[in-house]
Amino acid sequence: MKLSEYLEILHLARISIEEYNNWGEDEIYKTTIADVLSNESSFIKSTYQLSYTENINPREELNNIKQKVSRCKKCSLGKTRLNAVFGSGTVNANLMFVGEGPGYDEDHKGEPFIGRAGQLLTKIISAMNYKRETVYISNIVKCHPMIDPDNPEKRSNDRCPSLEEMKTCIPYLDMQLEIIKPKIIVTLGACSTKGLLNNEEPISKIRGKLKEYKGIKLIPTFHPAALLRNPNLKKAVWEDMKKVIRYLETGEI
Ligand code: SF4
Ligand code: URA
Repeated sequence: MKLSEYLEILHLARISIEEYNNWGEDEIYKTTIADVLSNESSFIKSTYQLSYTENINPREELNNIKQKVSRCKKCSLGKTRLNAVFGSGTVNANLMFVGEGPGYDEDHKGEPFIGRAGQLLTKIISAMNYKRETVYISNIVKCHPMIDPDNPEKRSNDRCPSLEEMKTCIPYLDMQLEIIKPKIIVTLGACSTKGLLNNEEPISKIRGKLKEYKGIKLIPTFHPAALLRNPNLKKAVWEDMKKVIRYLETGEI
């Protein structure tokens, strides 16, 4: 056997082990060798930082990753979720919101931000003169972080994802960002802000400040759930959203 063939087999074996670790036994059989050889697997792409630019329909690519996420069990949240919540909106979005993680309603329906906080987010988006369909809405983790993970039917059972859970799930968000290429990200609340920026400042200090994540402009603001608890925070969020609008319209902040 030629050296190049040995190397090819080693490469396949390594990829198979990665696929097994990330998706489990079922998936390794579904991932065809042709798929692996042609490097079509999204996970492999993210692992090896290959480019998405050539011959790929972004909507299809996003959908492929969504399928992967729906089966993902890379962290323990995958074992207790009812539905993974990938994200919603358009692949052409200039603006991407990133929340902390699905709650009860989102876990039940598989859609992000559809509960009370989500309805407020929809209002904020309308006030900005956009629609949910013209932006992209996602979360830093795609499965419901629960205080009591044995009880997905319980209300008020949400918690901030741990740093470890965020670290495990962020590659999916990175893939979404790479495909959608938004001009600006708005992190909603302390969890997703910390997950992306690793900041020490509290959300009340860092909100409204222009930051960057992987070369993309980012503005943190309060989570809409915080506005439901304390409507006085709405003014600050609106100040932050005005900066976002200005940036999208003029390229300046
Ligand atoms: Fe996978 Fe993310 Fe769900 Fe964890 S939270 S199981 S990493 S999709
Ligand atoms: N809160 C979040 O952070 N994300 C959701 O999808 C819903 C509520």
